[in-house]
Amino acid sequence: MDVITAIETRRAVKAYDPEHRMTQDEIDKLLSLAMLSPTAFNIQNWRFVVVQDQALRKQIRAASWDQAQVTDASLLIVLTADLKSWEKQPERYWKDAPEPVRNYLVPAIDQYYRGHEQVQRDEAMRSCGMAAMTLMLAAREMGYDTCPMDGFDFDAVARLLNLPEDHTPAMFVVVGKGIKEAWPRGGQLSMDEVVIRDRF
Ligand SMILES: Cc1cc2nc3c(=O)[nH]c(=O)nc-3n(C[C@H](O)[C@H](O)[C@H](O)COP(=O)(O)O)c2cc1C
Repeated sequence: MDVITAIETRRAVKAYDPEHRMTQDEIDKLLSLAMLSPTAFNIQNWRFVVVQDQALRKQIRAASWDQAQVTDASLLIVLTADLKSWEKQPERYWKDAPEPVRNYLVPAIDQYYRGHEQVQRDEAMRSCGMAAMTLMLAAREMGYDTCPMDGFDFDAVARLLNLPEDHTPAMFVVVGKGIKEAWPRGGQLSMDEVVIRDRF
């Protein structure tokens, strides 16, 4: 499937075949593609929690306004981020780069994030948002439907996943075989309203 078709046919699908199972190869392929998503300074701050324990998925569904796709989709991925990845051995993020590049970038990472908690959190959401889109488009190519979700109790889900203190949930992406079409598009704004030429 070409990228334009993947973008045009991706919809937030809410009803899934609960019997369908993805193979481990498919799951690994999807995650390996998500891991190619860009992150600022290459800090790769996303942590993808793949929830396969059905009992846990039921608990997460209860903390997600009882939305059926949480348990019925083949895969529930909770995109979370390590808010402190920027200070955890940052040289790892540039280990394969030429030394002058590494020597320049690694200290720059620290200067950019240290003491700036809001920036750390914004970065978490940016990275996870982009990885979510990669997941959704790659899933289309693999013949699957998806739904991005943030309709859940963040604190409750963090507790259920034993999320470390310095991590945050960002959103879910569920992946599976849709059994019902998405609702008709809600209503797209006009390009005139959303595209600003040069400045407001
Ligand atoms: C960050 C985010 C959170 C969302 N949360 C939910 C959700 O909790 N439950 C749901 O059914 N859809 C959720 N959606 C899906 C949106 O309602 C949907 O993307 C939007 O209506 C546009 O429809 P489309 O994705 O089919 O084009 C979410 C979408 C995004 C991007």
